Amino acid sequence: MKKVGETREHVFFLWWLLTTLHFLSGCSESTSLLSTEARSSLPGVKLIKQKQQLVVDNSVVRVSLSKDGFVVGISYNGIDNVLPAHHDYIDRGYWDLVWNEPGGISNFERITGIKFSVVSENDDQVELSFFKEWTLSVTGSSVPMNIDKRYIFRKGDSGFYMYGIFERTEGMPAVEVDQIRVVFKLREDRFHYMAISDSRQRIMPSTKDRSTGHCQPLAYPEAVLLTSPSNPALKGEVDDKYQYSCENKDNTVHGWISDSPAPVGFWMITPSNEFRNGGPIKQDLTSHVGPIALNMFVSTHYAGKEVTMAFQQGETYKKVFGPVFVYLNSALPNSQDSVSKELWTDAKNQMSKEVQRWPYDFPQTRDYFPPNERGTISGQLLVQDRYIKRIRYQYADSAYVGLALPGEAGSWQRESKGYQFWTQADNKGYFTIKNVVPGDYNLYAWVPGIIGDYRYNATITITPGGFIKLGSLTYIPPRNGPTIWEIGIPDRSAAEFYVPDPYPTLINRLYRANSKERFRQYGLWERYADLYKKNDLVYNVGVSDYSKDWFFEHVPRKIGYNTYNPTTWQIAFHFPKVARSGNYTLRIALASAVDSELQVRVNDPKSIQPEFTTGEIGGDSAIARHGVHGLHWLFNIDVPSDRFFKGKNSIYLTPTKARTPFLGVMYDYIRLEKPPSPRTL
Ligand SMILES: *[C@@H]1O[C@H](CO)[C@@H](O)[C@H](O)[C@H]1NC(C)=O
Ligand SMILES: *[C@@H]1O[C@H](CO)[C@@H](O)[C@H](O)[C@H]1NC(C)=O
Repeated sequence: MKKVGETREHVFFLWWLLTTLHFLSGCSESTSLLSTEARSSLPGVKLIKQKQQLVVDNSVVRVSLSKDGFVVGISYNGIDNVLPAHHDYIDRGYWDLVWNEPGGISNFERITGIKFSVVSENDDQVELSFFKEWTLSVTGSSVPMNIDKRYIFRKGDSGFYMYGIFERTEGMPAVEVDQIRVVFKLREDRFHYMAISDSRQRIMPSTKDRSTGHCQPLAYPEAVLLTSPSNPALKGEVDDKYQYSCENKDNTVHGWISDSPAPVGFWMITPSNEFRNGGPIKQDLTSHVGPIALNMFVSTHYAGKEVTMAFQQGETYKKVFGPVFVYLNSALPNSQDSVSKELWTDAKNQMSKEVQRWPYDFPQTRDYFPPNERGTISGQLLVQDRYIKRIRYQYADSAYVGLALPGEAGSWQRESKGYQFWTQADNKGYFTIKNVVPGDYNLYAWVPGIIGDYRYNATITITPGGFIKLGSLTYIPPRNGPTIWEIGIPDRSAAEFYVPDPYPTLINRLYRANSKERFRQYGLWERYADLYKKNDLVYNVGVSDYSKDWFFEHVPRKIGYNTYNPTTWQIAFHFPKVARSGNYTLRIALASAVDSELQVRVNDPKSIQPEFTTGEIGGDSAIARHGVHGLHWLFNIDVPSDRFFKGKNSIYLTPTKARTPFLGVMYDYIRLEKPPSPRTL
């Protein structure tokens, strides 16, 4: 196959053009800052159909695609191809998915277009379609979905858009889809610096550094200790792609920067989360060693199989994933520091521009809803908890408010098929959710600092161009009686608890001692037994401080090679007197559960029957994957007053499963309430 941009003249012209434009537009910054005049003076977008491949050239980027819709080359800023030309053509820029027939084995499939067509072709825009149609003859070997991979190239853009239309029709068999994503592999000789956020940027190890002889494998294949990396500065660090995960709401731009002399940035920009599964705080992968840049649309990461997209036999479906923007920028040669800063800042600016432009008006399909076909909903959320505020209401300050497919309160975190639209309310609980795709939804919310999940008790029907004003809504969080004590903050995360220092021999330098993201360090689960050598954690209400005395994950204790024992934590407290009748309420909110069963005992740690058990729950793997939460769980436990004594009392918590070091739970918040007094009923 002919390689992309082999014409030296072309490459040189591009470089000359861009350099000249830098100076013409009076800035030494990146190409995205081309003025409108400079853009309009550029030649139009050209589609060149070659025998083996398609080439689209908008004079800023030149992209080559195979006829089945794989991105095989991206030529930019004098670099012939930012993708690794020595990789097989299906292993550079591609879509893939992981699926299984119910009960069957898991399949990995790269999405291969069978039918190529030009959707639009003019000076301003070229849109291409690569369509995979499912037929009975591919049962078992290809996911039962029709998939249309689309690419959009626009005049003057320093990059291109990608989106996919996923459809199921009657007659398709049942399926579970665990993952849908876009992958780009970049040239390893050029891209060494990765940037995910303002504070998460670093020079990365190479693929070879992770191979036998250069590293030491750790507890699972994703994590290695770099023993002889090609860059000696990285020696002694841990590499694990899960250390670079991010919540959906923050996963808007990430990517890589190449070395001088021609510094280039390659970025994944995701202007909206509406198509991702699991809501705004679901976590997922970003970029990692390869160099690889991912765009995860659907996954079970940090959630488990319970969030798979499950379709019944014959169940129909249609959803558009994307568009997302693959953005390239460049800087003049300079020190790594200043180049990285310049390109990262510019990538963030570009991300903001894409967010402003969302929803786009240019995709050529009726399946994507343009701005004028979307609706808006607004309102104000109040909280009524008579034991927090004596006044009747408080504002749902900074509440997360969202629309997702109809379901129970909190169901959005396991919802993987529909669109979701989220916003954060202001300090008075006012919210406006714009650009909602028409359809039926429930309105959901949770409020940082307030326990539980809100759901508005009516189906919301969004119509094209419609504006629904809900007025004031009131969330009445779970509450039976006044708080006796509480541990933590109800915010769906264990971050406020004690996160230990990592082993000095197992660090990632990105997450220094004072970093808010220290929980991303490898091996913290083993630190529990270092700190609680013989006796398990005891939390004395009124004396202990949860930020120091409550370990952020409740894990088993290692007692020998590959042998672990469950651990039991004790919450000790003092009752001056006990209510004569009625139930106390123990509320346990979990930030994560990993193949666990949490048993709760009251005052008798040895009792055969626990007071309460969660049953077997969870598979979010947040412990091994350095999360500080996975899926959220809330258990409300009635404890009859005759279980308590005047004086000292204890509640014992035991995650009973201890097969591996990564099983257990993370707590979000625990509260004990008095029985309701007749006066307040
Ligand atoms: C919620 O809606 C259902 C059905 O319309 C109704 O029976 C119920 O009383 C409502 N609950 C509240 C709290 O308004
Ligand atoms: C106490 O809790 C138990 C178990 O949930 C329940 O059956 C009982 O009715 C409750 N008692 C009172 C007084 O609420």
